[in-house]
Amino acid sequence: MEALIQIAYLAASICFIIAIKLLSSPRTARTGNLVGALGMLTGLIATLFHQSILRYEWIITGLGIGTALGAWMALTVRMTAMPQMVALLNGFGGAASALVAAAEAQRAVISETLSLLSPFSLTTISLSVLIGSITLTGSLIAFAKLQELISGRPLLLPAHHYQSLLLLVGALILTLIFLQQTDIALLHGLMVVSLVLGIWITLPVGGADMPVIVSFLNSLSGLAAAATGFVLENYLLIISGTLVGASGLILTQIMSKAMNRSLWNVLFAAVGKSTAPTASAEKTVRSTTAEDTALMLGYAKQVVIVPGYGMAVAQAQHAVKKLMDALVQRDIEVRFAIHPVAGRMPGHMNVLLAEADVPYDSLYEMERINNDFPQVDIALVIGANDVVNPAARKDPSSPLYGMPILDVDKAKTVIVLKRSMNPGFAGVENELFYQPNTYMLFGDARQSLEKIVESLREI
Ligand code: TAP
Repeated sequence: MEALIQIAYLAASICFIIAIKLLSSPRTARTGNLVGALGMLTGLIATLFHQSILRYEWIITGLGIGTALGAWMALTVRMTAMPQMVALLNGFGGAASALVAAAEAQRAVISETLSLLSPFSLTTISLSVLIGSITLTGSLIAFAKLQELISGRPLLLPAHHYQSLLLLVGALILTLIFLQQTDIALLHGLMVVSLVLGIWITLPVGGADMPVIVSFLNSLSGLAAAATGFVLENYLLIISGTLVGASGLILTQIMSKAMNRSLWNVLFAAVGKSTAPTASAEKTVRSTTAEDTALMLGYAKQVVIVPGYGMAVAQAQHAVKKLMDALVQRDIEVRFAIHPVAGRMPGHMNVLLAEADVPYDSLYEMERINNDFPQVDIALVIGANDVVNPAARKDPSSPLYGMPILDVDKAKTVIVLKRSMNPGFAGVENELFYQPNTYMLFGDARQSLEKIVESLREI
């Protein structure tokens, strides 16, 4: 039986590796998800045959409750609420690792063998409790910020980062003493300090930086699971935890790079504190109407649509698809330019556009389309702001300076759909809106798009 379980674990691990590969492209992502789920099922079933399981009542109850809750969440979650759901699930993963490790220590206490455990086992138990607890409370704060249960602004107490440092040092000292004295109370103390540390680390991070933190916490939850894998000598947990840890860290790096910031800056710079734009009294803004926008679009040859966070807020993806269809019918070339951190989670725009059945081959990543903008007749910016701000290229004093952006300002004409002159997440004014070739179409993006499509029919 033991050999069969190990073979099933190996098969599950292979499923996870293949799943990650398939998840890297929108075309194969669904299959990837299925392969991953199959791996998980294989691992679960194999574990149920483990010889140290004596009674199944608790396991079956847990499985029942978990499956019902999971299915309910998956079926009812709105697409815009996906980041907070991922945050919550990460937190539960961290909590599970910490609890399993703590339970192993408790078991050793009951059998009076805690002091006989090797320093390696005690270290992995401590690591699992430390990282898993930080992941739990950090993810809960991320969830609360994204769900707007608490303010999305960075919350900083006096000498906040010193307090965090103190908590971290406290946690490490508790770990060292636990290794020496093997007193379970110290492990419980470590859990409490780590739970507080998770809150302290996440509070100063602004709401829009949350996806980076969620990805970072995801990586931590993987490391906690891997540590628990060592505690239980379970190879599947070690392999899958390491995969999650590594892929979460890579994703964190990709996001930070796309914003031209370091993880350190995301964690400690409290970006998003001020949202006040600088005054811009003398500059002229050209506003336009849906009818005029339809006219301009109707006579264009090449149109590039640039979606951003506002498209998600307005739930305008279906209206965008209708506009695309109307333009394609008129033999106008329509492409979508996708910035890696447009919106509020990785792949946010891809997911929304896929939901509206926009073909994948109309979606262009930034590097593939940026050089084409000078030939583009109309760049239609739908609720994007920071990711098209030319200050990132031109103004060394701007907080956005150095962030790679979509060069829409180089298009022949730019039309921006948003509700006001308010800045985007970074709180920075956008020169693009004052350019002589830019027209602002004020209003909710979905309503504006529906009016444009209606007007196009009459041209
Ligand atoms: P933002 O710069 O946040 O701008 C979104 C714009 O959408 C706002 O200026 C807002 O203007 C407009 N908007 C909101 N609701 C709207 C509605 N109903 N109809 C029309 N417009 C609406 O978005 P972006 O350009 O997508 O940039 C994303 C930002 O998030 C970047 O700064 C990025 O660094 C940050 N970020 C992203 C990620 C990921 S992974 N995507 C991770 C961390 C940070 P009005 O209020 O005037 O309408």
